Amino acid sequence: MTIQIEQAARYINRILLQTPKVGLILGSGLGVLAEEIKDPVKVSYSDIPGFPASTVEGHAGQLVFGTLEGVNVIAMQGRFHFYEGYSLEKVTFPIRVMKKLGIEALIVTNAAGGVNTDLDPGDLMLITDHINNAGGNPLIGPNNTELGLRFPDLSTAYDVELQALAKRAAESLDIPLKEGVYVWNTGPSYETPAEVKMLRHLGGDAVGMSTVPEVIIARHAEIKVLGISCISNMAAGILDQPLTHHEVIETTEKAKDSFLLFMKEIISLYGQR
Ligand code: HPA
Repeated sequence: MTIQIEQAARYINRILLQTPKVGLILGSGLGVLAEEIKDPVKVSYSDIPGFPASTVEGHAGQLVFGTLEGVNVIAMQGRFHFYEGYSLEKVTFPIRVMKKLGIEALIVTNAAGGVNTDLDPGDLMLITDHINNAGGNPLIGPNNTELGLRFPDLSTAYDVELQALAKRAAESLDIPLKEGVYVWNTGPSYETPAEVKMLRHLGGDAVGMSTVPEVIIARHAEIKVLGISCISNMAAGILDQPLTHHEVIETTEKAKDSFLLFMKEIISLYGQR
């Protein structure tokens, strides 16, 4: 495992000239942020040793390195999902590679269904905590102490300072920012209305098919995490209409402008700390 991480990092390092500070994972329909990166150096996942290839519509499948607001960033334009059939080790492999490349913070984004009826499609939601409802954990198996602790603490998985910074960014742009708990389900089927009701009772505010495995690995690696959901639809049973991936992409497309401004402001504030 460490050998594969090193091989992938070595390959990427031969192409990059500088150390990335912030890693970005861009979720469904949110890959547009990578197009804002200045002096971009793009590395296709399929060229990186050990990287799986991304298969989902709305995901480009490349790493984009460069600067955003003067900060060195590395963006994953497209991520790997458990429902695609990858092991959780593969799903989270890029996080370990980004750690090796030198990132100190990770901004994880996703499209998610609104479980809390105070949310609306198009809302941006600051993730304050998560519920692992899928049950799997990418750390199952022997622990490599070079990578992190056997029993990592998740009591502040989403960094409090980064949350404050995101709130400041939203305020200064006058973008309404909701906050809440993200629930991970494996997918790829969407939830039933009964499951959504259950998730609401459990304390979930939004539900999606990603993020939690990556956050667990990032915290294992002691990378600071900020999580942002774009509410792409109301979860099943809330509205009297079926859910489609098309709707998810369409709504994230509509939320694109405020998402881009918000992310750039966050990174700008991060650079000024
Ligand atoms: N459920 C699960 N995952 C999702 C949803 C949803 O409603 N919307 C976007 N990703």
